[in-house]
Amino acid sequence: MLTKQEYDQNKDSRMKMVARAKQDPMHLSYHLMPPAGWLNDPNGLCELDGVYHIYYQYSPLDANMAQKIWGHYTTTDFITYQEHEPFLYADDAMDADGVYSGSCYKHNNELYFYYTGNVKYKDKEYDYINEGREHNTILVTSKDGYKHSSKQLILSNDDYPQTMTKHVRDPKIFAIDGIYYMVLGARDKDKGGCCLVYKSTDLEHFSYYNTIYPQNNFGYMWECPDLIELDNSKFLICCPQGVEQQPHAMQNVYQNGYFSLEYDFAHNTYNLGEFIELDYGFDFYAPQTFIDDNNRTIMWGWMGMPDASYTNPTTKNDWQHCLTIPREIINQCGKLYQRPLKELEQLRKNHIQVKNNDFSTLPNTHCYEIIMEVNNQEFEMHLRSDVTLTYKDNLLTLSLGTSGYGRDKRYLELTNLDNLQIFSDTSSIEIFINDGAYTMSTRVYAQLTTNDLSITTPSSLSIDYYELQPIIVKGEA
Ligand code: FRU
Repeated sequence: MLTKQEYDQNKDSRMKMVARAKQDPMHLSYHLMPPAGWLNDPNGLCELDGVYHIYYQYSPLDANMAQKIWGHYTTTDFITYQEHEPFLYADDAMDADGVYSGSCYKHNNELYFYYTGNVKYKDKEYDYINEGREHNTILVTSKDGYKHSSKQLILSNDDYPQTMTKHVRDPKIFAIDGIYYMVLGARDKDKGGCCLVYKSTDLEHFSYYNTIYPQNNFGYMWECPDLIELDNSKFLICCPQGVEQQPHAMQNVYQNGYFSLEYDFAHNTYNLGEFIELDYGFDFYAPQTFIDDNNRTIMWGWMGMPDASYTNPTTKNDWQHCLTIPREIINQCGKLYQRPLKELEQLRKNHIQVKNNDFSTLPNTHCYEIIMEVNNQEFEMHLRSDVTLTYKDNLLTLSLGTSGYGRDKRYLELTNLDNLQIFSDTSSIEIFINDGAYTMSTRVYAQLTTNDLSITTPSSLSIDYYELQPIIVKGEA
């Protein structure tokens, strides 16, 4: 458990952790990170009355992950953020071992939050897959995003199909023709990773509708499903675990990506397309989307990777992990493209057009954005003293040295490289490739040295450089 009382009782030690995190040179400048402690998945994303709410998986008292609750930030402009006290605590028998991931559905200007209550039995040795745990689907509602109703159990393991292990979690809701559907990530005992679909007419009572399986077994578990519709096409985003790694694809221990999905909800039949990866870097997982009041599909991801072999030295300063920048998702000819949210342009200052690949006059900072027209020319670029991005023989390679803390190389095969948009922060790099057709996201921990940024190519590329100013994050009231 981690109750509000315990959270409040630990205020002094938390404040010391927050102070240590703040003075860390790797503290992010324009990304959301935990005030201190551990962060993973973005949760409950929504916009209510012009206020964007960003909740997240949060272990406030331990940077190495402990009891999970929901942290909370809000913003109206993506430049100034307010930190709030945690929204959900692990304070109930249904979520005693963690308020796990979940999402928000807005209905009649009221927010419906669905999440997974994690329970781990400790009375004997269990495998925690087929026995020894509960994954409860829980609902709370809220009129303002700050206070919520009492917790209501919507589904428990007994309500999931008998073929499922105990791993069924991360609910996300959508509506089709006035009917509500919930997708849940699941681990079938025989068939492995899949996605359960439940149906409701009142947002409170859900009945089993179907299970979406891949054509051939694809990993043992799918986490964080998100079923979205863009321009009349449906996509199932999820994070499969247990997929075989390949030299230039599925390079991480766990995957993130999407399937195109044809779903006939009137007849309850579906057709699942190929799996396409969303991000090709080291640190990207558990993305979640929501539709804002301007009808944009906006996504944040966790810039981290569970069970990765690489590490993050920030733990010595009492914090770990961050979210990606917010990205807008667009359907371009049946493929999902990611674009940095337009509002981030407000962070730009010092526009410099780099001529003749001469970076020597640029400000000495790791906080910048670069837009590059590549037009398929080969190049090698240094983003830190020991971080290179190269394009050669139709292969884009991101290569990290010791500042990667175990992160070495990630690859992306391309038939053509048109352009790049690179967001660098104190300890992160996000690369948008070919107008956002692909991305590569990574954490990196290099001290700032002069002339970190350089490029070697036979001919001069068109490069626009912007220094980026920090977002403003106001502390918990
Ligand atoms: C994904 C995940 C979710 C789970 C949460 C727990 O990173 O494992 O499946 O709900 O994190 O923090």
